[in-house]
Amino acid sequence: VATIGVNIEEAKESLLQGKLVGIPTETVYGLGGNALDEKVVLSIFQAKNRPSFDPLIIHTDRLDKLKNFVHEIPTPLLCLANRFWPGPLTILLPKKSIIPDLVTSGLDQVAVRIPDNPLTLALLSKLDFPLAAPSANPFGYISPTTAQHVENQLGEQVSYILDGGACEIGIESTIVGMEAGELVIYRLGGLSIEDIESVVGKVKIMSHSSSNPKAPGMIKSHYAPKKRFLLHDRVEFGKVSGSIGYLLFDQYLDGVDTQYQRLLSPTGDLKEAAQNLFKYLRELDNLAIDLIEAEFVPNVDLGRAINDRLRRAAAQG
Ligand code: TXA
Ligand code: MG
Repeated sequence: VATIGVNIEEAKESLLQGKLVGIPTETVYGLGGNALDEKVVLSIFQAKNRPSFDPLIIHTDRLDKLKNFVHEIPTPLLCLANRFWPGPLTILLPKKSIIPDLVTSGLDQVAVRIPDNPLTLALLSKLDFPLAAPSANPFGYISPTTAQHVENQLGEQVSYILDGGACEIGIESTIVGMEAGELVIYRLGGLSIEDIESVVGKVKIMSHSSSNPKAPGMIKSHYAPKKRFLLHDRVEFGKVSGSIGYLLFDQYLDGVDTQYQRLLSPTGDLKEAAQNLFKYLRELDNLAIDLIEAEFVPNVDLGRAINDRLRRAAAQG
């Protein structure tokens, strides 16, 4: 069982001893460890039961620290970093050899992010190594958005969890890289395409190619609850039999006990929907029901990233 608290020194001590720490970010909680220590990186994969072909993101607190870890930053990516860091943006950059191959699953590029959370930024500022941090959930399961979620699932594997409260954004960072001089989005996330395009113009989206060799981790089935999970354009009551929990956008279904329903945002606000997504999926997964039915949200702004998570939760195997 891990200690949960706000003691940055204690978190730092654990990391210096090669242990893993739960870190709050504005997107989801991370399972952090010294990215430069191969043994620690291996223990991250083991703690999550994560396949070694699924690379990790490294986290730091300042752009100027990056030059130790990566070669030059292409201008469009630098523009995005300057504009959106700290924030829900991850960029792919050519790595220096100081970053163990295990971090990147043998790829030449490493994923980098400056997260926006005061506790984690304070911790990172006291470290002379970046933190490799995947989302702090067992591989394939729903990502954690509170310290308690981390404790519930990985409490045995971490020594300390920094408690930053509930994550403000609630879904993972948007991953952007460059291919043949063109900007490409590899994972839809907490920074919308609209926001990115307002800075750098039209970008290409490749987040659904599960066979894309650049991003071996973007696996089709992910974020999955343990319960059977059905996804529809619009949920209609009575079409499916069994005892059902409903994950809905902004309106309750008539004739169903509201205890079995979760509204992502009663006011139809996609930001709020993103904040609630993983929490409600967990709650439904823990109800005594046979299956979960969910519906897509409007496919704009953060809605695209939410729909992406719903699709992956619904994908089998
Ligand atoms: O918001 C986030 O990004 C959170 C917080 C903790 O920062 N982290 C997170 O990490 O979502 P994780 O490990 O759950 O997802 C990282 C994904 C990998 O599955 C992979 O798809 C992609 O990032 N990735 C990492 N390194 C990559 C690389 N070198 N090339 C391509 N894709 C990479
Ligand atoms: Mg993850």
